[in-house]
Amino acid sequence: ARRFVVLISGRGSNMQAIVRALRAQGASAQMCAVIASSPDAPGLAWAREQGIEATLVPHRDYASREEFDQALAQAIEAYEPHYVLLAGFMRVLTDEFVRRFEGRLINIHPSLLPLFPGLNTHGQALEAGVQWHGCTVHFVTPVLDVGPIIAQGIVPVLAGDTPQTLAERLLHIEHRVYATVAGWLAQGRVTLDDTQRVQVQGVRTRSYLF
Ligand code: GAR
Repeated sequence: ARRFVVLISGRGSNMQAIVRALRAQGASAQMCAVIASSPDAPGLAWAREQGIEATLVPHRDYASREEFDQALAQAIEAYEPHYVLLAGFMRVLTDEFVRRFEGRLINIHPSLLPLFPGLNTHGQALEAGVQWHGCTVHFVTPVLDVGPIIAQGIVPVLAGDTPQTLAERLLHIEHRVYATVAGWLAQGRVTLDDTQRVQVQGVRTRSYLF
């Protein structure tokens, strides 16, 4: 079975979508653990209720980013995962950490990358006046919010949208896109070619509409 670890910092709704998608894969996928960077991540309690191993690596306990990433990497490696999925994980990772897991480390970002990297992506989208907003599931590389794109989903911007209403509309499609990608990973269909572009075997579209 392909082994997965999910990293969260908060609510964990994407984690829930991933857990459901991996369960639907049966014996070919195993959700080994959820690791949270903060003790008050609500997603931790949900994972425990589901009988999933839930581990805390509290970033506040570490003096530097390097020390935190070292502890995080050790916690992850204890589970020997094939894939490490970032799902609302709000810590910036060191280059060393990213290189250690390169090709196995995947993130969801709430914008249509390469537009709007960083924080407050919904506010950035409204500010820019774009009429479509979206999310991107991508391999993580050392530069923040850059990296080979696996799949994207889009939603319309509607009159009167606030960052909150837009975020909420997008969240539903985030769940669909991340769940779909988790299924592909479990089936071993996702590869990176030598130009660092993603190939997904037997899949016609990697674009999702609300
Ligand atoms: C999601 O919208 C995710 O795309 C975003 O945080 C939210 C987490 O929600 N991630 C980032 O902004 C990464 N920089 P969740 O905890 O309910 O999945």
